[in-house]
Order: sequence, then C-alpha cells, then structure tokens
Amino acid sequence: MQPIIASSYEIVFNTSGYTALNHYINKTNYSKIFIIVDSNTQEQCLPVFLSVLETAITIEVIEIDAGEIHKTIDTCSGVWDALAALEADRKGLIINLGGGVVTDLGGFVASTFKRGMDFINIPTTLLSMVDASVGGKTGVDLGMLKNLIGVINNPKMVLIDTGFLATLPQNEMRSGLAEMYKHGLIASKSYWQQLTDLTALTIEDLTTLIYDSVIIKNNVVLEDPTEQGIRKTLNFGHTLGHAIESYCLGNPDKTTLLHGEAIAIGMILESYLASELTGLSKIELTQISQVFKNMYEYVQFTDTDIRNIIEYLKYDKKNSNGNINFVLLKEIGIPVIDINTSNELIYKSFAYYSLINS
Ligand code: GLY
Repeated sequence: MQPIIASSYEIVFNTSGYTALNHYINKTNYSKIFIIVDSNTQEQCLPVFLSVLETAITIEVIEIDAGEIHKTIDTCSGVWDALAALEADRKGLIINLGGGVVTDLGGFVASTFKRGMDFINIPTTLLSMVDASVGGKTGVDLGMLKNLIGVINNPKMVLIDTGFLATLPQNEMRSGLAEMYKHGLIASKSYWQQLTDLTALTIEDLTTLIYDSVIIKNNVVLEDPTEQGIRKTLNFGHTLGHAIESYCLGNPDKTTLLHGEAIAIGMILESYLASELTGLSKIELTQISQVFKNMYEYVQFTDTDIRNIIEYLKYDKKNSNGNINFVLLKEIGIPVIDINTSNELIYKSFAYYSLINS
C-alpha cells in the first residue's frame, strides 16, 4: 500500500510500513528507543512488533495501565519518571504501541519531556488507526473532561498494521467504526454508503476502508492543522458525544461507554439537530439513525442525566465567547460548523433518540 503523505510525516501500512520504519530508524541515529505499551499491547502486540523491528539501538519498554481512566497527568508523571530513570535524552525516540490512550498520552509525554523528543505512533486499535494516531493531537483528560490538556505535535511516522485488529474485541471494533462513519458523514457520501453494508466484509475490504478513512482525516488536517475552521468538522457527534462519555465516566450508576459508542449516540443527536437547524433531510436523518441503531446498543438517559450532560457542554473545546459551537450537517458529506442551539432542542434530540429505540 502506498504511504499517505501527511504534513511532515508519512502514514505507512503493513509489510511495506515495517520496511519504511526500519529504514527510518536506522538512518536517524537515535540514542535509545522507548516503546510505550499498555498492559494489553504489552502482551498481544509487543512480541510481534519486536520480531519485525530491525535495529541495534537499545530498546526499553515502558508499560502503563490500560483504559481511559488512566489517561491522566499522573500516568504521564510515571512515564516521565521512567524516562528520566532510563536516562532518556532528546536524541531518543518514543514509539507508542497501543490504542488511542497510548498514542495520545505517549505523544504528549514525548512532546513535553526535555521540551520534546521524536515519537512514532503504531496504533493497535481501529479507533487509533483511523483517528487518534493521525493528525498530531496529543494529550490527556483532566478528571472526567476529555482531552482538556494537550498539544498539537506531529509524530515522525504512523505505522498502521491491520494485523493487530485480529485480537481486537468486537466492541472495540465497533468503537473505531464510529469514527469511520463520521468521516463519511462529514466528507464523502459514497464512503458513508460503502459503510452502510458491512456484510461479507473481508480483511482486505477492511484494510481498504481504513486506508480511505485515513485519507479523509489526513486531507482535513492538511487543510487546517490547528483547527481554525474545517478541522472542527472532525468533531461531528463529539460535542454531545464527549459530554455523554465524560458524564458516564464520572457516574458509577452509568455504564462506561467506549469513545465510539458515545460518539455514535452523539451523531444521532446531532443529526436530529441538523434536521432542525441546517436542513438535513428527514430521509438522511432516518438513514443515519438506523445505521447507528443497528450497530450500537441503546443507552437510556433520564431527565437528570440529560441535564448533567448539558452541563458538561460548557467544557467543550470548540466553545468560544460562552457559545457552544456544534458541527452539524446540511446533507451527508456536507458539514456546517459553528452552529448554536437551545437546550430545548437538545432535550428534543434525546427524545428522538429514545423514540427511534422504542
Ligand atoms: N479527533 C479529531 C481531530 O483529530 O481533529
């Protein structure tokens, strides 16, 4: 597969990707390599990765706990301490081998340790392949608030090995798919349509769909790397989705949702808002809702839940001058940014979500 060219780095794939990675590492003269893994990837991905890494450079492995609740400054401190104890210098390379938590947190650690070390992302979940590892966003959560702390800093390379998906649980696959659906909804009706029928999907088809998803994301980021305009469209479904995810994360009575599961609900709610505010047709609203309803489990929200979720909206990173700015759709493939709405309409969007699931 041809590399995808990002602003200052390449996104490489599978076998040819490892050739590119080995070539890059061996020409760059790094002092040491630090591989950040979590408890899952340490066991399931690291042995495979080490068997294909060809280098004489000293390798150290730093393990963090798996899961969104560990995407914190405390975990960063542990990794910074480990890097210091292992005498990491600025000529060292960090390789983030894992899902979105590892690539976001590892990228942030690399960007800040000794004011910046090089890093490479090797995403092992579908979500991090099609979204988190690409585009240079790095960071951690602040309490329940998603990705509130971080910097935009590009990796030196992203290597996507779709073979890692073989061990990924189904709910994690569905979580990643949500971001792929989002790419169709904000940028390409034909890509969305391909995703609406995933029966008889082969691993080759999936690899092609991942490749196309990364192209969509990369094109958006190339146009607007610092999210002044069009990059905001990548947040479709995320305004309410992040609020739902944060609320569930912080509430022991609610089931914790994977990122994509929360975002899928957010996309139904925000499609409803789009049908009221930006002209999304009822036919497309129904089509979008049906796809997500068939793929993701229904989550019930009480009035108290909704009130609390609305409270979380004030922390959304796209807010400006006290306004909550939504990304909505005019039609599938055509997004509109910076749309404000009322709490009343948000309540109605939850009522719509409940109605389609009744
Ligand atoms: N995940 C959204 C972005 O990278 O902008």
